[in-house]
Amino acid sequence: MKYDFDSIIDRRNTDSIKFNPADRGRPDDVLPFWVADMDFQSPPCVLDALSERVRHGIFGYSDTDRNYFEVLGNWFASRFGWEIKPEWLVKTPGVVNAIYTAVRSQTLPGESIIINQPVYYPFSAAVKNNQRNLVVSELLYENHRYGIDFEDFEQKILKYNVKMFILCNPHNPVGRVWTREELTRLGEICLRHGVIVAADEIHADFIYPGNEHLVFAALHPSFRDMTITFTSPSKTFNLAGLQLANNFISNAEIRTKFKKEFERSGLSQLSAMGIVAGRAAYAYGADWLEELLLYLNGNLDFTRRFLNDNLPQIELVEPEGTYLAWLDCRSLRLSVKELEDFILHQARLWLDGGTMFGAGGAGFQRINIACPQLFLQKALNNLQEAVNRLARG
Ligand SMILES: Cc1ncc(COP(=O)(O)O)c(C=O)c1O
Repeated sequence: MKYDFDSIIDRRNTDSIKFNPADRGRPDDVLPFWVADMDFQSPPCVLDALSERVRHGIFGYSDTDRNYFEVLGNWFASRFGWEIKPEWLVKTPGVVNAIYTAVRSQTLPGESIIINQPVYYPFSAAVKNNQRNLVVSELLYENHRYGIDFEDFEQKILKYNVKMFILCNPHNPVGRVWTREELTRLGEICLRHGVIVAADEIHADFIYPGNEHLVFAALHPSFRDMTITFTSPSKTFNLAGLQLANNFISNAEIRTKFKKEFERSGLSQLSAMGIVAGRAAYAYGADWLEELLLYLNGNLDFTRRFLNDNLPQIELVEPEGTYLAWLDCRSLRLSVKELEDFILHQARLWLDGGTMFGAGGAGFQRINIACPQLFLQKALNNLQEAVNRLARG
């Protein structure tokens, strides 16, 4: 490997929210595997570009230039076969911010928005915090795999007169990478009922072998024109603290409403460092990403083997994408509260509890595997020891 993913870098005292358990009401010594950022340095090309920018030393109001769009266009064309147009791009300081903007700009208070739980918790927050009506179509979990309940999805769209669907692809936390057939069925239902699709594709670069990320908006021109696609280099290159998302909206009417609403938030230019980092990452970071994906696949293999060999009480829900693993802990037979306490106080781990993602997450925990393997091993050892103690009573 050309790049180093094995070194454990101390992230305490770097203003990292992940490594500050005490400030978030957790015991000081828990090992953090919760929020979705990685314990790896960003690629050298990004660090170099940022260093050069720091040496320049002037950090005035900033916006992207033409070259930025070219770099972005090449990334999406080469990785996903998706041809984007400059006018589609609307940048925001993050995907969550863009989802909130989408909710406010495309729906009215009281109108219904549908999501597939268990799903990334800011989706439901974006709906509720903006006084929209949350409609949940639960994913089905059958034969160790999550799927969409299409009938329930369509019936609820009709029953609640749903105006927007927030799609998560790849799906956090269950790790599905939705297939062409699944996306097409979802799209056809939304098209039939005039539902705008807010497609969060932030994890698109994290796909395990044998799976393929399909850009929802690229599946069909009619899907494209009813969709807002959210992307960001922040997950791929570990830049979440630099606050940059690239959102694509081909439909001029939807885009105008989105931009107006974004303006109303009072945010104007983006972070200069976010632009520098994002541009460098997309221009020069592809080979680093290839190695990262190999490393993550190794971590996934390690997790699967460890659980099979040492901890059969906990089942890995096999992810097709993302660096998040969804662990089925139901055979421990603990209540939601007991499981939370067990993970935190017995295993001394800080994970994301399943019910954060919706009621269907009861009995599950989400663990972030984007870290040096030695650190991941510590987490799994902690878990094994705690489960053994539990079994002994
Ligand atoms: C599905 C999904 N969307 C959005 C985000 C966060 O995006 P941002 O930091 O750009 O707001 C995350 C982070 O975990 C995520 O998993």
